[in-house]
Amino acid sequence: MMSNDIVEISKDIYFIGVFDPEIRTFDIIMKTSNGTSYNSYLIKTSEGIIIVDGVKLEFQEQFFKKIEQHCTYDEIKYVISHHLEPDHAGSIPELIRRAPQAKVLISPQATSMLKAITKTETIDFETVWTNKSITLGNKTIQFLTTPYLHWPETMSSYVVENKLLFSGDVFGSHYCDKRLFNDLVGDFAYSFQYYYDHIMRPFKSYVLSAIKLYEKFEIDMIATLHGPILKENPKKYIDLYKKWSEVDCEKLASGNKIVSIFYLTSYKNTRNMAEKIYEGCESVEGIVANVYDLASLGEQNMLKLLDESDGILIGTPTINGDAPRPVWDLLSCMMFLEKKGKMAGAFGSYGWSGEAIDMILHRMKFLNFRVPPLDLLKIKLIPNEEELQRCFNHGVEFCEILKGKMVEMTMN
Ligand code: FEO
Repeated sequence: MMSNDIVEISKDIYFIGVFDPEIRTFDIIMKTSNGTSYNSYLIKTSEGIIIVDGVKLEFQEQFFKKIEQHCTYDEIKYVISHHLEPDHAGSIPELIRRAPQAKVLISPQATSMLKAITKTETIDFETVWTNKSITLGNKTIQFLTTPYLHWPETMSSYVVENKLLFSGDVFGSHYCDKRLFNDLVGDFAYSFQYYYDHIMRPFKSYVLSAIKLYEKFEIDMIATLHGPILKENPKKYIDLYKKWSEVDCEKLASGNKIVSIFYLTSYKNTRNMAEKIYEGCESVEGIVANVYDLASLGEQNMLKLLDESDGILIGTPTINGDAPRPVWDLLSCMMFLEKKGKMAGAFGSYGWSGEAIDMILHRMKFLNFRVPPLDLLKIKLIPNEEELQRCFNHGVEFCEILKGKMVEMTMN
């Protein structure tokens, strides 16, 4: 390490990122009670400089001051941009303006984005992917294609001589601490998991593919785009991502499908429907069904249950032409889920019109859940015996389709 401003994180690799301790909400949806950092790095090679990622636009003057402490702009040979979201790419257009001779290295999927943010077609760039590498003087950078972590264009790279992984957003935390390294900062375990839950969880199959690539390398350090740099035991963080992203092995081994039935009820009518649906589901071999009252579920529990469910059924009353708030809270969790292969449906008791059920089905279709073409399960007020039998049958049919019975699915 050198002065407070210049930190050598590994031989010839310097932190030139910036700190944003005041931010409290990130990307509209995430709480950042510890602020965050926009991590950027500078690599000094025997033949010139490589800049790795940029920072958010409003912090770019600090970023440029840090670069100027190390080099002149004409020494910059490459700019590697792992991810073009504005919190990292905000300063890239001005950096390119100051260092026009530098070649920008991006994934192929980032091409149109780079042109859009720089507003030029004439930019000097090259696309890179797994098995491509560059050597500049005494440093070799190997590129790794790691898409959807968490945008289509994201990639990672590995500095061979340093055994250092530039992971992009992966393994990041919104946790601002100028001590920088995971063994020096405060306890950021909560932020690390919160970040995974809200950014990476919807892409967990891509996380597992990326980990397969990372595992081919000996990694001494992970330099992320947010929060602490993982110097001490970086494997621990890879293992955590792996654990959180793997399908429940017990479920896989048993071949059981999990169906979660969530309901909200005013007068126990929707609850009684949920319980009959549950009985129907449970009567199908290989189905493990569970019923949950939305009135008492917190967001973290909702997320966990939704994540492990193969089938999701949501029961709601209709109040003033809408589903009540706890139902929408559940629906808003869907953005943090990987929906691939999941099936969904809705049901409910109503007094006047029952639009809430149609709204939920509509939303589930647009979110790309598989919504089977079952009869609409809307029951006016108190379900009678015949209607409860319909609920039972609905559970059976839903689960048979979930288990593979062929039907034509409705697409949005
Ligand atoms: Fe940190 Fe996806 O930007």
